[in-house]
Amino acid sequence: MSLITTSPSTQNTDKDFMPINGTDYVELYVSNAKQAAHYYKSAFGFKSLAYSGLETGNRISESYVVVQDKIRLVLTSPLNSGTDIGRHIDKHGDGVKVTALWVDDATYAYNEAMKRGAESYMEPTVEEDKNGKVVRSGIHTYGEVVHIFVERKDYNGIFLPGFKAWDTHYNPASVGLKFVDHMVGNVHLGRMNHWVKFYEDVLGFKQIMSFDDKDISTEYTALMSKVMSNGNGRIKFPINEPAAGLKKSQVDEYLDFYEDEGVQHIAVATDNIIQTVTELRDRGVEFLRVPTTYYDVLEERVGKIDEDIEPLKELGILVDRDDEGYLLQIFTKTVQARPTMFFEIIQRKGATSFGKGNFKALFEAIEREQELRGTL
Ligand code: FE2
Repeated sequence: MSLITTSPSTQNTDKDFMPINGTDYVELYVSNAKQAAHYYKSAFGFKSLAYSGLETGNRISESYVVVQDKIRLVLTSPLNSGTDIGRHIDKHGDGVKVTALWVDDATYAYNEAMKRGAESYMEPTVEEDKNGKVVRSGIHTYGEVVHIFVERKDYNGIFLPGFKAWDTHYNPASVGLKFVDHMVGNVHLGRMNHWVKFYEDVLGFKQIMSFDDKDISTEYTALMSKVMSNGNGRIKFPINEPAAGLKKSQVDEYLDFYEDEGVQHIAVATDNIIQTVTELRDRGVEFLRVPTTYYDVLEERVGKIDEDIEPLKELGILVDRDDEGYLLQIFTKTVQARPTMFFEIIQRKGATSFGKGNFKALFEAIEREQELRGTL
């Protein structure tokens, strides 16, 4: 057993050379940004925030920004053929291009990262409009994913310079999603430790947990994972690599269809998972299901919890406990044409871990989906 846990709140905060305030935005390159934005609004309870495209003088791409509490998604499509965004979509399908990190000084963050071995994506760049200025800079991480540092302390606009407010009559009610809890990357076999070292060296992250193939395996498939966290614990990036099993790991399936390393899932937090998942399901979001026998032994496994078991069972919500408390979680089916990215909905009641006790039931559920796709 290799579960190693340290409390994120007590980590190296006094000597954190890379202070990060939180996730600023997540940008996905998608084949039809306008329709994707409608999906995230209708199905996931996001609201229209900002727009960039022909009407704002952007003749290369079109971006729709949707927001729910602290979560901002940017959905971007090219306006012509032959663009890098178009090439990205052709290769990977829809997927995450940018995980933007909110910092106080994007020039300092870039210089520190570069000094420590990062590969540059975007030199510090000042963008201005009548609402002030934003400084952004960026570095590469696994696959074609990049981290953009966003410094917005001198900006009062709706999102970023170059965007205008997206006014619309249609804004569905929130489903109660609050913030990005963690984002998981899938990397090639043998590359997990490389990226662990990257986050340690370049961004000063610490490994707060690790799971080996004995923790995360079923009869057929396995994976390994290490969880990296920044100093204040607001940014958590688990990194998965496939492990040898009798059949194809879900990470291998991802790598085959994404044709690269990339973001596997975005975990978003709620204060009331029963209400949130009820809403999501009513709006057409589909979730992975575990057998109802999971609930027969639930209280034996995790002890007394505040929630009634019946609605958890009805919705398929999973529960796990660690030394600090418990958590409730559920995973959507993949959300685009390829079996690649999906979302996790998570409610933490003290627990700081990631649901290790659910891995087996969950991965068996994923295997049933793989089986249907003929990719197991
Ligand atoms: Fe997760």
